[in-house]
Amino acid sequence: VTDRRPIVAGNWKLHLDHVEAVHHVTELGMRLRTMDVAGVDAVVVPPFIDLRSVSSVIEAEKLDLALGAQHVSEFDQGAYTGEVSAAMLARLGVTIVLVGHSERRTHFHMDDATVARTAAAALRGGLIPMVCVGESEVERADGSTEEVLARQLGAVLGELDGVDPDRLCVAYEPIWAIGTGTAATPEDAGSACAHLRKLAEQHLGEGASRLRILYGGSVGADNAAELVLPPDVDGLLVGSASLTAAGFAGVLGAVADCYRSTRRSPRR
Ligand code: 13P
Repeated sequence: VTDRRPIVAGNWKLHLDHVEAVHHVTELGMRLRTMDVAGVDAVVVPPFIDLRSVSSVIEAEKLDLALGAQHVSEFDQGAYTGEVSAAMLARLGVTIVLVGHSERRTHFHMDDATVARTAAAALRGGLIPMVCVGESEVERADGSTEEVLARQLGAVLGELDGVDPDRLCVAYEPIWAIGTGTAATPEDAGSACAHLRKLAEQHLGEGASRLRILYGGSVGADNAAELVLPPDVDGLLVGSASLTAAGFAGVLGAVADCYRSTRRSPRR
């Protein structure tokens, strides 16, 4: 039995401009009003330029939705053209930020050290970093998944000495499952998340039992419930299924139902 509250976060990636975003969140809000998803922390993670508009809808409609960002600068301020700081995001009402998503690691050359410094910057600015980790297809095939996860998570936790486990999240997103339609099996997701919690214990001690560890990769309403059944999976990071209000509401509903109908009783 776990008392960790589940998180379901929708990462829109490079989709939905600010006008589309307003329509999307308005529809999502209407759907959520007819559902009981109070046991789940729901987060929308739009592109930077949508944040202000989305936050206005959340506020005006009093929606129970947290606002996340997809990336943040490792720098607090200065001559860093094109960057956005954690403090700027926090001031907009953002509470959580993805750090080191595999797409940023692959396309924008984020190495483990940069991911670690970025997570530290997020915390300094008052945001909760959601640190994304996960092995590639090749790494999985040659049996180095656990080693890759240890390297990726170790780099971050080594940098965040003494971090409060309630101010941090981890998302296990195997690269081979992202956008492929082939999710990890619940067993594989569960064992990877359990491995991550063991690794976290080395830095956080007993606090690792409070750390929320999500699964991501080809999640939809149809497989969401089975993917949160393993005891160490504390929620889902959703990509393409979060691009429609129906898709994201479906995932949220499935996770809320699953937590209600099992022995897992999340705390408020
Ligand atoms: P998909 O759900 O589209 O596979 O994307 C997963 C992801 O990368 C979320 O961050």
